[in-house]
Amino acid sequence: MSSYKSAVPNSKDTFRHDLFKGKVLFCTGGRSGICYKIVETMMSHGVDAAIVGRDGKGLAESAQALVKTTGQKCLPTSADVRDPGQLEKAVKETVDKFGKIDFVICGAAGNFLAPISSLSSNAFKAVIDIDLLGTYNTIKATLPYIRQSHGSYLHISATLHYRGVPYQAHVSAAKSGVDALSNVLAVEEGPRGVRSNVIAPGPIGNTEGMSRLSPMGWDATNDIPLGRMGDTSDIANAAVFLFSPAASWITGTVLPVDGGENHIRQLS
Ligand code: HXC
Repeated sequence: MSSYKSAVPNSKDTFRHDLFKGKVLFCTGGRSGICYKIVETMMSHGVDAAIVGRDGKGLAESAQALVKTTGQKCLPTSADVRDPGQLEKAVKETVDKFGKIDFVICGAAGNFLAPISSLSSNAFKAVIDIDLLGTYNTIKATLPYIRQSHGSYLHISATLHYRGVPYQAHVSAAKSGVDALSNVLAVEEGPRGVRSNVIAPGPIGNTEGMSRLSPMGWDATNDIPLGRMGDTSDIANAAVFLFSPAASWITGTVLPVDGGENHIRQLS
């Protein structure tokens, strides 16, 4: 479709290198993929970070790599987002180490392909519990600190639920809920100086999410107006903007970052 291919930008070409100096980020799902890249990019702009997940060993390795590439501090802290007690412990560890939390990314997610006809109630619930209840639990555990810092939330959603994407009932329902939760959070907490926004990534190459959705591989280039698959840097750059003071009047927004893919309807 497109003869144009947009370049993958580097955040350092646009944003100040010390944009987030002195700030602290708490990120669920930061061990790999899109959230890892967001954390790495924000650390390269001066933030110290806690990354949260179930895989303690993988988290420690990721934290080490993040420190090495950015020179900032990174705390790996184990928690299952389905368990409010574990999250509260991770938040306490973060505040004990860094003294505060300014930014929260609710990024932990689970997904697989399954039609409604064969999806068990427990399988549906597993994804709702990780993606939606996990986001709620993360908000509840961090809100007292985000109120103190007049900080900001970023939720990683999807564009799946704008249409009916087959085999994705569980994650579509969960991500619709995440968008709604963020909007309510923005309205309730705006008067306390807290912001909440959502990024809805389109097809992002070389991620676990993409390989789960397209196990045979899918080059979406021809379906994307801007002429290429997404890169994790595309999401990271949007996150840097939404956490930056330049976005201080932006809250309750869902920002699709997808090269225009969600607007495509094929003519027949
Ligand atoms: C059908 C499945 C299934 C599959 C699991 N289940 N995998 N059903 N097809 N492929 C069912 C199980 O049979 C069980 O139901 C129920 O789901 C719970 O499974 P468990 O393995 O016990 O749950 P758990 O260990 O908590 O694992 C959660 C999970 C898993 C979501 C199922 O895949 C996971 O932990 N994923 C985390 C990593 C991940 O998914 N990363 C991709 C993120 S990308 P029964 O009835 O048998 O008890 C992403 C992007 C979203 O999320 C947006 C995309 C654009």
